[in-house]
Amino acid sequence: MSDRNMRFRDKVAIITGAGRGMGAAFARLFASEGAAVTVCDVDTGAAQHVSDQIAASGGRAITVDCDVSKSDQVEAMVQHTLDAFDTVSILVNNAGIIRRTRVESISEEEWNLVMSVNVNGVFLCSQAVIGPMREQGWGRIVNLSSSAGKTVSTLGGVHYTASKHAVLGITRGFAKELADDGITVNAICPGLIATEMVLDNTPPDELRAWEESFPIQRLGSPEEAAWLVGFLASDEAAYITGAAFDLTGGDLMV
Ligand SMILES: NC(=O)c1ccc[n+]([C@@H]2O[C@H](COP(=O)([O-])OP(=O)(O)OC[C@H]3O[C@@H](n4cnc5c(N)ncnc54)[C@H](O)[C@@H]3O)[C@@H](O)[C@H]2O)c1
Repeated sequence: MSDRNMRFRDKVAIITGAGRGMGAAFARLFASEGAAVTVCDVDTGAAQHVSDQIAASGGRAITVDCDVSKSDQVEAMVQHTLDAFDTVSILVNNAGIIRRTRVESISEEEWNLVMSVNVNGVFLCSQAVIGPMREQGWGRIVNLSSSAGKTVSTLGGVHYTASKHAVLGITRGFAKELADDGITVNAICPGLIATEMVLDNTPPDELRAWEESFPIQRLGSPEEAAWLVGFLASDEAAYITGAAFDLTGGDLMV
């Protein structure tokens, strides 16, 4: 492979929620371009399957069982990565959950669950990688917000919308404070991407109606999200920080 296709040689990437969906596509892309990858998920079986696929393609990956909403597990996951690969250069905060409950029926427990994974998880993982990134004077953090973070969720409830707005706040706050260290922090804001999160939560006729309402009349693919994340994690994106990129097939134009 040419150097152009090995942008992440000598880089170590942690991808949270990498057992399926977009996270799995991110893990495969970074590994295929030379990175050593930590495949992090609460679903260890799924994560191990992704690591096995990467290894079978000649890449390097470890599987780490980690709930991103638990600080002790996050610290252990980063330490596990350091033990295996010596550093951390790229973090993709991808793990997230959706709930469709309407406002009047959301329990305090459900509200806290969505916030703890989608918001606390992004904060805890980002905080945990600052040390190794500062040591290198180079780092890339890419957060999964959503078009829900800029307007209102197509599928999710108010807790999901609020959590994705918060991800943009975390992105901007970290970007401002870490810029001096050569660490950029950006977000992507997908609309509807064809993953289990969407396919398992949406009746087919509702999905078709959504697709027909988009200027590009289809769902996005996990690979299309991976190409954007790969760019934001590359050297070419060094001057981009605190930004939030839409990936909505034209559904959101702001
Ligand atoms: N699919 C979409 O259309 C869409 C649109 C906008 C934003 N997003 C966001 O993109 C991200 C990925 O979405 P997806 O569609 O690939 O989701 P998905 O549900 O298909 O996969 C999410 C993965 O995260 C893991 N996970 C869940 N909770 C976790 C936790 N506490 N700790 C670690 N891992 C955990 C799951 O086990 C799963 O493997 C999410 O943050 C989601 O909110 C998705």
